[in-house]
Order: sequence, then structure tokens, then C-alpha cells
Amino acid sequence: MLLNPGPAVTSDRVHRAIAGPDLCHREPEYTDLFDRVRRKLLVVGGVGDDWAVVLIAGSGTAAMEAMTGGFVRPGRRLLVCQNGIYGERIATIARRLGIEVAPVTAAHTEPIEPAAVAAALDAHPAIDAVAVIHHETTTGLLNPVHEIGAIADARGVPVLVDAISSFGAEELPLPGTGLDVIAGTSNKCLHGLPGVAFLLVSPRAQARAAEVPPRSLYFDIPNYLRAQERRTVPFTPAVPAIYALEAALDELLDQGIDRRRAHYRERMAYLDREFARLGLEPVVAPRDRSGSVRSLPLPADVGFEELHDAVKRDGYVVYAGLGQAAATSFRVCALGNLEIGALEGFIASLERVLVARRAGREAASPR
Ligand SMILES: Cc1ncc(COP(=O)(O)O)c(C=O)c1O
Repeated sequence: MLLNPGPAVTSDRVHRAIAGPDLCHREPEYTDLFDRVRRKLLVVGGVGDDWAVVLIAGSGTAAMEAMTGGFVRPGRRLLVCQNGIYGERIATIARRLGIEVAPVTAAHTEPIEPAAVAAALDAHPAIDAVAVIHHETTTGLLNPVHEIGAIADARGVPVLVDAISSFGAEELPLPGTGLDVIAGTSNKCLHGLPGVAFLLVSPRAQARAAEVPPRSLYFDIPNYLRAQERRTVPFTPAVPAIYALEAALDELLDQGIDRRRAHYRERMAYLDREFARLGLEPVVAPRDRSGSVRSLPLPADVGFEELHDAVKRDGYVVYAGLGQAAATSFRVCALGNLEIGALEGFIASLERVLVARRAGREAASPR
């Protein structure tokens, strides 16, 4: 059972979908598939048909790179909110693309301070867009994207949101919030398979993209939009992964978006209760925690590999810590097609590791 932050455990329905027919992406069958997936992504995003959808064959970082390079005009700056490795990745991408970065930072366990974003926007009039990670998967922290959206919107600056590990699971109202571009991927909270990255782009951001000379061939967003007008695509799409994404979106819409979110919350509440019982306190404060990822301190004397290997022998994959707490933490991620009951076995496995280690310590300590 995968308890890493994606790829997520997926259903049989999603797995079976990849066996759909071979098809040529220059034929109307592909355009029909794209139209259906586009409409379903817009429903999940809660936005109208005036938002554009760009599907890119690639991992989540492809969506980050397309978003980072696509909306900042030459000679202007990108304000990048950095409180984890994904915010830092956006800054790295921007610099490699020759975009000047205005960083606003916070510790990896703290949300970005909206007032710091306001101050940076007021101090640097050349800022052309704000980039922020909704769910910093580094530690399982939610950033206050809506407060940041309101601040940027009041100054006419679009906000680019990496919602790669939150789209579909966390509340993310879009219309009228100042959030203009959403980067997502198929294989996290949407429960699809890896291979499709996507952007949702507001009308205002579509206009902005048209003013930005392309910094890349593959990630030239207006090129994707022009191709859509001709009912085609510029490059070969990952058709089997798009089949799986459509099945995953159907599953989500059949379940209901609110019920999916409630399921995430219930599952995490179960895990939080069990972590508290085992004496494992997440590194992020309760008010800032996401509904799917916890970064937990490694128990005394237990290295990550030992913990990982022990629970893996029982069938569970946990993930290493990341960023500033990498050496002292591990992560448990509950996303994907996982029932709460299935997590009980994992908690029992984790408890065995902790109990065995405690017994070893007690036996080794002098009386
Ligand atoms: C918030 C966030 N952004 C971007 C990425 C990068 O995605 P990928 O590893 O699919 O390129 C991840 C991956 O976990 C993520 O959690």
C-alpha cells in the first residue's frame, strides 16, 4: 500500500481504462477525449468554460515549468513564496528561464505570511505575478492562497498556484479569488495514473500569456491554446494516462467532490488520532495541516531506512522527510483510493516498530 505523496493507489476502474483503444491524436476521437477531460477538470476546479485547460505529457514538474515561464513578461519579476522544496523549485525554474525572482520565505513548518507578500508587492512594482504552493508536500502544510490571491488581486497581479498535491482534495475556490493559474497532475488527489500534467488558466491569465514571448518550445502555452482552436494538439499526448485520468475524474464526480473531501478529512482524522496515541506529533501546527500528508519526527534511535524497511515488509510504503527536516522526519501520506480500514494494518505495523525499539532501548539501558 502506497503511503507516499503520489503516485497514489488507484482503483481497478482507473487501471482498466489504460487499455482503451490505440488512437491517433490528430483524429477527432482524441479531440473528443480531450474535450471530455477538459470539461471534467473545469467542473472539479469549479470554473466556467472561459477558463482554458492545457494538458501536457509529463510529471507535475512539467506543469510547474509551464506555469513559471508562461506569465511573466520580459524584464519583470516573479514573486515566489518559498516555505518548502516545491516553492524553492519554482524559484530555481524561474532563474533557469532567466526570470528575476523576488522571494518571500518562511520556515518549512510555517505558512507564508500574507502581509509579507503585500510588502514585497508594494516594494517591487516590477513584480508581474505571484507563485505559491497550495499544499507544500514537503511537510504537509497548506499556504493561505486565498489571502494571497486577494492581496495580489487588489494590485492587479495574477497568482500562479501549484495545486499539484491538493487539486481535487482540498478546498480551492477559484472564481473571483485572484487565483489565475492552477497547476495540477493526474496521479495525486485525482487518483489517476502518472503521465498527465495540466494547467487551468483564467481568462485574464490567457491574455497575459499572449503577451509573453515563449521561453520554451514544449511549454509554450498560447501554442497549446491555438492548437485547441484548430481542434488539434502540438505534441503527442499521453493517451493511456488521459484515459485513466478520465476514469479517475468520473470516479470523483460520481462520488461527489464534497464527499471526496470529507473522506480525506475522515481518513486523516483517524491517522492523527493514532499518531497522537503513538506519541508522534506532526511538525506542522494543526491549523496549517493538509488533509493528506503528515511529516512526523522519526522516533528516537530509529533511522528512516530502518522504519521504511520494517513497515515495507508488512506491505506499506512510507516516504522520507524532505527539506529542512529531512534528517529527522518521515512522511505518511493518505491520498488515493484508500479506505480507512486499510490504514489500520499500517498503524499496527508502525506500532510494532516503535514497541520493538522501545523494548530494545530499555534492555540496553543500565538498571
Ligand atoms: C506540491 C508539488 N509540486 C510539484 C511536485 C512535482 O511533481 P512531480 O514529481 O510529478 O514532477 C510535487 C511532487 O510531489 C508536489 O508535491
